[in-house]
Amino acid sequence: MNEPRIPRDPARRDFLRGAAAAVLGGATLAMPVGAGLFVFLDPLRAPRGAGTWSRVTRLSALPADGMPRRFTLRAERVNAWTRYSATPLGAVYLRRTGEQSVQALHATCPHAGCLVDYAPARGGFLCPCHNSTFAVDGAVNDPASPSPRGLDALEVEIRHGEEVWVRFQNFRVGVREKVPA
Ligand code: FES
Repeated sequence: MNEPRIPRDPARRDFLRGAAAAVLGGATLAMPVGAGLFVFLDPLRAPRGAGTWSRVTRLSALPADGMPRRFTLRAERVNAWTRYSATPLGAVYLRRTGEQSVQALHATCPHAGCLVDYAPARGGFLCPCHNSTFAVDGAVNDPASPSPRGLDALEVEIRHGEEVWVRFQNFRVGVREKVPA
């Protein structure tokens, strides 16, 4: 005995194919959009300002003799809900190395994260925590220093002939390599 034949309905088949494609396409699109909204709206994910350019000072504020000066960098943080007042990012030493050139060094000791002092009598930097010493260009200048590397150099630019801009970035402490934190 023959089975009854089910008539084929091209219109219905096309409708079901279209509906399945729409569901799959919607699900595919929803994931990245949802992730983007989460990042945008979550107040705990405010940008830290690390790796961003900041205008620090004017060239004329740096001693012509190359003596380093320490500056605290601040950044305003904004997210979808809140605008924070300027919060400290960290500290840098700036020193003139020429008419239009400046060296920027992170002021944090790469050993364990203490703030280093500039010691004019030594002509270099001294970390008060475990006595690491650094030359004025940031290099470790005493083999007995526990710091695994010299002070971390930061990118610096002179803009408009007078403004000193620094790209501030933190690095991991306690390791030989200069690894962004
Ligand atoms: S934190 Fe600077 S020497 Fe230890």
